Amino acid sequence: MLLCVGVMLLVVASDLGLCLDEDDLDTQWEQWKTTYGKEYDDYEEVYRNNNWKKNMRMIEVHNQEAEQGKHSYKLGMNQLGDLDFSPTKTDIYNQGTMQVCPKDDYRTVVYDRICSLLLPRSVDYREEGMVTPVKNQGHCDSCWAFSAVGALEGQLAKKTGKLLELSPQNLVDCDPESDGCVGGHMTDAFYYVLTNGINSERDYPYMEEKQPCRYNASAIAAQCKDFKEIPEGDECILAATLYKVGPLSVAINTNHVKFMLYKSGIYYNPECDKDNISHAVLLVGYGETAEGEKYWIVKNSFGTSWGEDGYMRIARNRDNHCGIASQASYPIM
Ligand SMILES: *[C@@H]1O[C@H](CO)[C@@H](O)[C@H](O)[C@H]1NC(C)=O
Ligand SMILES: *[C@@H]1O[C@H](CO)[C@@H](O)[C@H](O)[C@H]1NC(C)=O
Repeated sequence: MLLCVGVMLLVVASDLGLCLDEDDLDTQWEQWKTTYGKEYDDYEEVYRNNNWKKNMRMIEVHNQEAEQGKHSYKLGMNQLGDLDFSPTKTDIYNQGTMQVCPKDDYRTVVYDRICSLLLPRSVDYREEGMVTPVKNQGHCDSCWAFSAVGALEGQLAKKTGKLLELSPQNLVDCDPESDGCVGGHMTDAFYYVLTNGINSERDYPYMEEKQPCRYNASAIAAQCKDFKEIPEGDECILAATLYKVGPLSVAINTNHVKFMLYKSGIYYNPECDKDNISHAVLLVGYGETAEGEKYWIVKNSFGTSWGEDGYMRIARNRDNHCGIASQASYPIM
């Protein structure tokens, strides 16, 4: 009986008049969204638009065949036109959030369409003037503050066109949800900056230990309006978000001597436990070697003598290596 409803709807809206010129399709897509009051976020928009175009083409072919007498009925676009009707695939957005999707469907649908087709082969925000010089956290577990500050600096640069160093010490001393030099969370830091603002590194320099809060509201250097977390564990979404947003706060498993002693190359350590995340860094880009080895580029806070001038390249699209996509977030400025 449910099938009948679908068929009825298709027949009712069957005379929209089709023209499958690409520009025309884009215009019609916009009109279609307005007509049916559809709103999507960027990822879903790509996915929906793909389904919609596929359905439009299917409709056109079917209706031409119908003109030739091959079918006894015609098809037309309607409010269901953004669904993926392939029998083997579950419509990934039907369940609500992306996290509930079966991994396989998710991979084939979103990964192929967004990651392979739409994203550039490499992104490096160091070349866009959105990343400040590498710092050294020293004897203080303030990686979370450096990671948060890095993401804030990126958004500030994007917004103002100016690269300004912000103060991790401000967060270490003043974020009430974090534990200063014992650890903390980037999302708590963003929440602090959302409610208070943050001073610049020049006005509130790094001290390598927790001290009483000296935040100066008259010298506010940046503030965010909100922050977001990325669906856990998906490197495709991570890449798409990085490309769209800028540098992101991420956290990885680093409980291994080989991480601590990393010098160069693409880090891939089978002993890296993606379920035990311990260290925050800043994701600033991704790329691929001439041999096709894919990597992420992260900025660490261990000084410039660690790794590749303070950076690490870490294996990308290898099952969320070290948990790179497990706890990613960014501020909205
Ligand atoms: C706070 O910032 C303002 C503006 O930069 C400055 O004039 C003032 O001296 C600062 N206060 C302290 C206690 O540093
Ligand atoms: C996670 O890492 C910490 C620090 O190395 C270790 O003490 C802990 O046992 C690990 N937890 C799990 C579940 O492996």
